[in-house]
Amino acid sequence: MKKLGVILFLIASIYACKDVVNEIPDTPFSTTPYVFTYDKALLPPPRIPADNPITAEGVFLGRMLFYDPILSADSSQSCGSCHNQSKGFTDNGKEFSMGITGAIGKRNSMPIFNLMWHLDGFFWDGRSDVLRHQAITPITDPTEMNETVGNVLAKLNNSPLYKAHFKKAFNAQELSEELLGKALEQFMMSIISGNSKFDRVALGLDKFTAQEKVGQIIFNSEAITIDNEIDPKNPQNYGADCFHCHGNSLFMRREFLNNGLPSNDDLGQGGVTGNPKDDCKFKTPSLRNIEKTGPYMHDGRFKTLEEVVQFYLGPMKDNCNSLANSPNMHALKDSVYLSPSQKAALVSFLKTLTDDELLTKEEYSNPFK
Ligand code: HEC
Ligand code: HEC
Repeated sequence: MKKLGVILFLIASIYACKDVVNEIPDTPFSTTPYVFTYDKALLPPPRIPADNPITAEGVFLGRMLFYDPILSADSSQSCGSCHNQSKGFTDNGKEFSMGITGAIGKRNSMPIFNLMWHLDGFFWDGRSDVLRHQAITPITDPTEMNETVGNVLAKLNNSPLYKAHFKKAFNAQELSEELLGKALEQFMMSIISGNSKFDRVALGLDKFTAQEKVGQIIFNSEAITIDNEIDPKNPQNYGADCFHCHGNSLFMRREFLNNGLPSNDDLGQGGVTGNPKDDCKFKTPSLRNIEKTGPYMHDGRFKTLEEVVQFYLGPMKDNCNSLANSPNMHALKDSVYLSPSQKAALVSFLKTLTDDELLTKEEYSNPFK
């Protein structure tokens, strides 16, 4: 009886083992493709790097990393500290950001959305060419998170929570610098702004006010400078020439340009390329959510959109000999005239680019809250 019992037990164990073996897989590693929900009639098709397919698991890991202060040396600052969702992912109205040591940077924090369509480099001066490489630089920047990549990887690789997430997203036992960059890249690529009043009007779901409509025309019309006045009695004809550089549905131009700001010692792209023709050229930013992302320009020199508009009406000087390369810049000619109500209309149009979905969407928010 005893023997039979042992034999039965053995047979049962063999079957049990078989079951376990069958369960353990062969199931191949699989992820859930990330689905973009924006309206394809408005924004271009997704542009995803072939070697970093965007997945729900990768985006979620990237989101955790983006909001986790573990990336900074003293665990006090996350990417989200200087890129606040409710401010279009900029730094809370600050001219310059402060890093963990109290050091102040020399540029204004940049908004984060629609980055998968930025083809010509990241940062105001374009010094980083690929988003996943860009994503590592704030970690080691002494004026930002002031940490080493080695320490960050050690901290993450010691965390059971993160270990489970790298496994899910990349089938990896360990997070490497490459995968850290790729996860942050996936989360940042998932952040889309495409549901502002402007977008709803374009889709026929909403209507501009009369003032916003006038503003849109001014935004999209060539400037007629006072020099070559065509019809001063018909101010309808005046435009502010914004569309040359901030046109199309992304409201940006994929180029580094000089927009005529009086220069200080920041050479912008010229400081990176060493080519004097690039001096005073900066990334041409998107105007989506511009109402929320002030202060404005690479050094945050303008507090309000009214000041920005006044600046663009000129007159401007070419401080760096690169203004002539800017598309259709009226600046070298003379001032552009807009009446006070036209200026107000232009600003009211700019405010239709605010996208409340971007500013509040749960999937872009801090997952630890
Ligand atoms: C201390 C504040 C601070 C922290 C922390 C910070 N950033 Fe930034 N970020 C900035 C500033 C300032 C700029 C513009 C710097 C420049 O152009 O020189 C910037 C620029 C960027 C850009 C460029 C956007 C574009 O359109 O070119 C991206 C992307 C970005 N940050 C992502 C991140 C990520 C990811 C992290 C976390 C790993 C992070 N940032 C942490 C302040 C910060
Ligand atoms: C020649 C191209 C060009 C034209 C024309 C142009 N811009 Fe710009 N714009 C730029 C560039 C380049 C920057 C970034 C400059 C910098 O920070 O040094 C910029 C920055 C801005 C900013 C600040 C964005 C931010 O994130 O800080 C606003 C707002 C803006 N432009 C609005 C306008 C408006 C309104 C018009 C029309 C009156 C206009 N622009 C015309 C190229 C242009």
